[in-house]
Amino acid sequence: MLYQDKDYKREAKYIASLLGKNDITNGSILELGSGTGKHAEEFAKMGFSVHGVDLSPEMVKQANQRGKNDFVNQLYFEIGDVRSFKIDKKFDAVISLFHVISYQLKNEDILAFFNTAAKHLKPNGVFIFDFWYGPGVLTDPPAVRQKRLENKDIEVLRIAEPVMYPNENVVDVNYCVHIKQKESGKVSELNETHKMRYLFIPEILQFSSTWFTLKTNFAWMKDSTPDF
Ligand SMILES: C[S@@+](CC[C@H](N)C(=O)[O-])C[C@H]1O[C@@H](n2cnc3c(N)ncnc32)[C@H](O)[C@@H]1O
Repeated sequence: MLYQDKDYKREAKYIASLLGKNDITNGSILELGSGTGKHAEEFAKMGFSVHGVDLSPEMVKQANQRGKNDFVNQLYFEIGDVRSFKIDKKFDAVISLFHVISYQLKNEDILAFFNTAAKHLKPNGVFIFDFWYGPGVLTDPPAVRQKRLENKDIEVLRIAEPVMYPNENVVDVNYCVHIKQKESGKVSELNETHKMRYLFIPEILQFSSTWFTLKTNFAWMKDSTPDF
């Protein structure tokens, strides 16, 4: 519900257009950190097959429900860690979307993430990922934010309170979510901390250099280089 305004269809089309620029218009995709499979479903509609990997059993379960319907031969999701995942199969492309790399906090985690992507790519395959852009974080630091949502049953208030650790390039985003049941008026509270690393292009080049060369780097959903 909290990501209901995220336009997965448009995002998947954008990524498909980048793949197209590399002559990949169908074929197989490995998705690292596939969540509930919303991007993957859009790729399946475009004719790709997607093998998704995610740490969260709950998300993988939801993603596999998605695959059960129309795309049984195109979608497959499994529980795994993007730092150590290994199968004996190579893909036309590897993707990792919505800041999955930023959940890999230590340098060795990021190196392992690139190694996983590289060893599952066919020759001339491409790896497309997004990340939390360091220059943006430092020039416009995250602040306390509130988000309110509702449906017919519940009202949700989410407060995100960031704590920055600039010597580690990490921000703790502390989420407090209040959920009010409309009928009974009962309120429950969930607390969760997302530790996220912001990254800079020179360090990404360094981390990935054993396996990859950079073809392009674009601001999210644009075809121009990132700015701040
Ligand atoms: C913000 S969510 C994005 C999910 C999905 N890509 C999307 O766009 O909806 C980040 C995802 O990365 C997964 N993740 C983070 N670190 C991971 C790791 N080391 N191995 C596998 N999955 C990981 C989380 O479980 C979560 O599903």
